Amino acid sequence: LSEEAQRIVAKFDYTNEDVNEGVQEFLRQMKEGLEKDGTSLSQIPTYVTSAPNGTEKGLYLAVDLGGTNFRVCSVLLGGDSTFNLTATKVAIPKDLMVAESSKPLFQFLAKQVEEFLRTHHDDHFQAYIQRRKTLSSIERVREEEIFHLGFTFSFPVQQLAINKGTLIRWTKGFDIPEAVGKDVCKLLQDAIDDLHLPVKVSALVNDTVGTLMTRSYTSPGKESAILGAIFGTGTNGAYIEKMDKIKKPVQGSYDKSTGLMVVNTEWGSFDNQLNHLPDTPYDTQLDKESLNPGLQMYEKRVSGMFLGEICRLALLDLVKDPAISLFKNDSQTTVAEESGLNKQWGLDSALLSTAAEDESEDLSKLKASIEKELKIFAPSLEDLKAFRDVSAAVVRRAAKLSAVPIGAIVLDSGNLETDEIVDIGVDGSLVEYYPKFRDMVMETLASIEGIGEAGAKKIRIGIAKDGSGVGAALIALVATRME
Ligand code: BG6
Ligand code: GLC
Repeated sequence: LSEEAQRIVAKFDYTNEDVNEGVQEFLRQMKEGLEKDGTSLSQIPTYVTSAPNGTEKGLYLAVDLGGTNFRVCSVLLGGDSTFNLTATKVAIPKDLMVAESSKPLFQFLAKQVEEFLRTHHDDHFQAYIQRRKTLSSIERVREEEIFHLGFTFSFPVQQLAINKGTLIRWTKGFDIPEAVGKDVCKLLQDAIDDLHLPVKVSALVNDTVGTLMTRSYTSPGKESAILGAIFGTGTNGAYIEKMDKIKKPVQGSYDKSTGLMVVNTEWGSFDNQLNHLPDTPYDTQLDKESLNPGLQMYEKRVSGMFLGEICRLALLDLVKDPAISLFKNDSQTTVAEESGLNKQWGLDSALLSTAAEDESEDLSKLKASIEKELKIFAPSLEDLKAFRDVSAAVVRRAAKLSAVPIGAIVLDSGNLETDEIVDIGVDGSLVEYYPKFRDMVMETLASIEGIGEAGAKKIRIGIAKDGSGVGAALIALVATRME
C-alpha cells in the first residue's frame, strides 16, 4: 500500500524548476492582462489609488460576501492604526448560491444588515426611523444620518467606478447566471432601499483589496503592503501597480495624483489554458465535474474549496483498485456507502489540516476524524499513513503554487532592490489553519531566481485577520471624501 500511495504522491510533484517557469509565465500573463480585456488574468483596475496610513477615522459599515460566511460589520477607525470591529457572520443558504434569480440572495443580505443595525446601532436606527416619519417629500435625509457601507464582494467584477461594477462571472460554488453583467452595488442598494435602511453602498471592494488596505492601515512598520492575498475558499491577489503600466482604458474619474492604482489580478484564473499548470487526472476530473469547467484553473489546484476534493479523487483511485488494499479489511471495504469519500465535495479540506496536525505514532486523532466525518470504519495504520501522505502532497503542491504569483509580484514591484521590508497581507482559512502553510510558501519563495535566500528574508507575509471588512470601511471612507 505505501508504494501505491507514493505513486499517487509523486503525481503531485511540483519542482523548484516548475516554480521558476511558473513565475515567468505569471509575469507574462500579468503584462498581457494590463494591456487588453478578455485575458486569462483579468488584471482589474480597482479605482483605489492610495493606501491608508493609519490616520483614518470614523464609523463605517461593511458587508462581506464570498468567503465561507456572509459577514456584516461596523468598523470604528481610531485614527491611530487601530480599529474596533463589531461583526456578525452567517452561512449563506445553499439555495441562494445556485439559483435562477439573484433577488433572494440580495434580499437576504439586506435583511442581515437590518438585523445588524437593530442589534448593534439601534439608537441611531430608531432616531432615523422617527425623523423619516416627519420628513416632507422635499426634505432630504441628512448626510450624518446615513451609514456609508463598503461592499466586499469577492468575485470577478468589471469595476466601473469605486461604487459601481458589473459581475464578470461567479466562482467558488456560486451560480446565478441572471446576475452576470449586472451592477452588484445597485442590486445591494435596491434591496437595502426596499427595507428603508439608512445605508448607502459607497464602495465596492474585492476581499484581496480589502486585505491589502487593512495591512497598510495596521502594518507594524512604516512600509505599506504591496500585495493583499486570499488563500481561503478561493484564492486571489491584489497589488499596487504604476498607473502608466495599465495600458487598457480605465473609464471615469479617479484621483491620478499618486500615479498608482490597486489592481485585482483575479489570479484564480491564472493559466486557464494550462500552458504551465500541473495537471493530474484528478485535476481534470474535478474541473470536468465543476460548475465552471475550464475556468479558475489555478484556483482549482490551490484553494480550500478544492483541495479536499482533489484528495478525495486521488484516494478513491486507491480504493477502487482491486489490487490495492486501501480501506479494506479482509478484502471487505470499510468505507460505508454513505461515506463522504463517495460524494462530490464529500471530503472537507479541514480534514487535511487534521492529518497534518496529528504527529502521534498511531495517528489516533486522524483516525477518529476519518471515522466520524468520512464514515470509514477501523482504518488501519497503513490506511491512515496513505491518507496523510496523499493529503500532504496535495497541499504541498498548493503551497508551492502559491509562491508563484507572490514571487512574480514581488519581483515585478522592484522593491527587493530597496532596503525596505516587502510586506504582504494574507487572509483565508487555508493560510490561517493549515499547519506551516506560510512556511512552505516562504521556503519556495527562496528558491525563485531573483529572490533567493537573501530576498526571501526581506519578504514579510502577515495575516490581516478580518482584513476585508476593515479594508472595505477604509475604502468607503476614501470614496465618501471624494464625493
Ligand atoms: C475573511 C474575509 O476573513 O476571509 C473574507 O473577511 C474573505 O472577505 C475570507 O473572503 C477568505 O477566507 P475563507 O476561508 O472564508 O474563504
Ligand atoms: C475567487 C474570486 C475572487 C476572490 C477569491 C478569494 O477567486 O473570484 O474575486 O478574491 O476567490 O475569495
